[in-house]
Amino acid sequence: MLPFIKNKTRFVSSIEQRILSDELTKLRVKHDLWYQPFEKQEGNKVWLKGKEYLMLSSNDYLGLGFDSRVREAAREALDKWGTSPTGSRFANGSRGYHQELEAQIASFLGKEACHVHSAGYLSCVASVSCFVSKGDVAIVDRNVHSSLWEGLRLSMASIEKFSHNSPASLEEELSFIPKDRKKMLVFEGVYSMEGHVAPVDKFVDIAEENDCFVVLDDAHGFGVMGNQGRGSADHFGVSDRVNVISGSFSKSLASTGGFVAGDQAVIDYLRTYSKQTIFSAAINPTQAAIASKALEIHQSEPHFYERLWANTRRYHAFLRELGLDYWDSKTPAVPIVAGSKERAYFFSQRLMEKGVYANIIIPPGVPPGKELVRTAMSASFAESDMERIEGAVRYAAKALR
Ligand SMILES: Cc1ncc(COP(=O)(O)O)c(C=O)c1O
Repeated sequence: MLPFIKNKTRFVSSIEQRILSDELTKLRVKHDLWYQPFEKQEGNKVWLKGKEYLMLSSNDYLGLGFDSRVREAAREALDKWGTSPTGSRFANGSRGYHQELEAQIASFLGKEACHVHSAGYLSCVASVSCFVSKGDVAIVDRNVHSSLWEGLRLSMASIEKFSHNSPASLEEELSFIPKDRKKMLVFEGVYSMEGHVAPVDKFVDIAEENDCFVVLDDAHGFGVMGNQGRGSADHFGVSDRVNVISGSFSKSLASTGGFVAGDQAVIDYLRTYSKQTIFSAAINPTQAAIASKALEIHQSEPHFYERLWANTRRYHAFLRELGLDYWDSKTPAVPIVAGSKERAYFFSQRLMEKGVYANIIIPPGVPPGKELVRTAMSASFAESDMERIEGAVRYAAKALR
């Protein structure tokens, strides 16, 4: 006899049964995690059920999300280009704003060419999936973002992992790969959960010694690391030795969308073979205008970048003094490691009691035992915001002891 959903009289397949009985989903829904809708946002403040919170989880590193010039640029683009290209560039052509943004990003990164997508996730999938295929080997830092794993699985290349941020482990793993296999090295510039910076210069040296094509996902390094925020490869002075830099507009540039930058030949190849590039609708005018204006402001007004780093240094020092485990973050992406999902949840609830909002991250976002509250610094935090954050974190930390 087949089971029936309560109050319904239709067939329920075994897959639907699995969905209905999933314990993790039930737990998430019960605690109303991650998807609560804020009623309102103004700058770095959000309102939930009538109460105001300071947003401590956003990746708006440069604090440009509410900048009036950025919002005006979005309105102008909407008036000029309409809402959306409503199709891929393969289907109905590129727009002037695509090419302008691509030229702007390429020039900022010191690369010949660039392609922009409607999500950073798509860019990162594209940046790894089309350059290797069956028979090739991708050698990958163990801690990379889900988008890169997804792209690598699609590529059908063999995948070898090396220990997070370890040149020695990378060399060891490479020594097991036959010399005649084509190899691609994949890592991030700044790790989104840990805040760690990759030793890009050492990785590039090893890649060259071992004939590897190099792909760097710099979603959290772009706008944050290097000269004027030109990213993690620039920070180590090796941008020209990294074949592909991918990234996102949803962090420093306060938009959504992403990019893949590299030599012209590499971007031409991507446009020929990447399914994510060919078969997904192109980035829309407002997304592109926001990213473009934010980058323009960032380049001409260094005070955003300087404020971001001043806040970051102060926050790191404060967490150190409190004795909290922030995974030795070196960047504005700052985890507070709680060590279990209950402790992380409890910590975040205590922050909320004091008017600060930060999300918890549990497996598969982090390895078991590293459950954390993911916080991030922003140039938008004024003195009063920093004081509120410090008061709330001090209060939440007491509860963890
Ligand atoms: C390292 C990394 N790569 C790629 C992405 C995907 O970017 P987006 O969220 O803009 O799609 C993210 C976003 O969380 C990320 O942290």
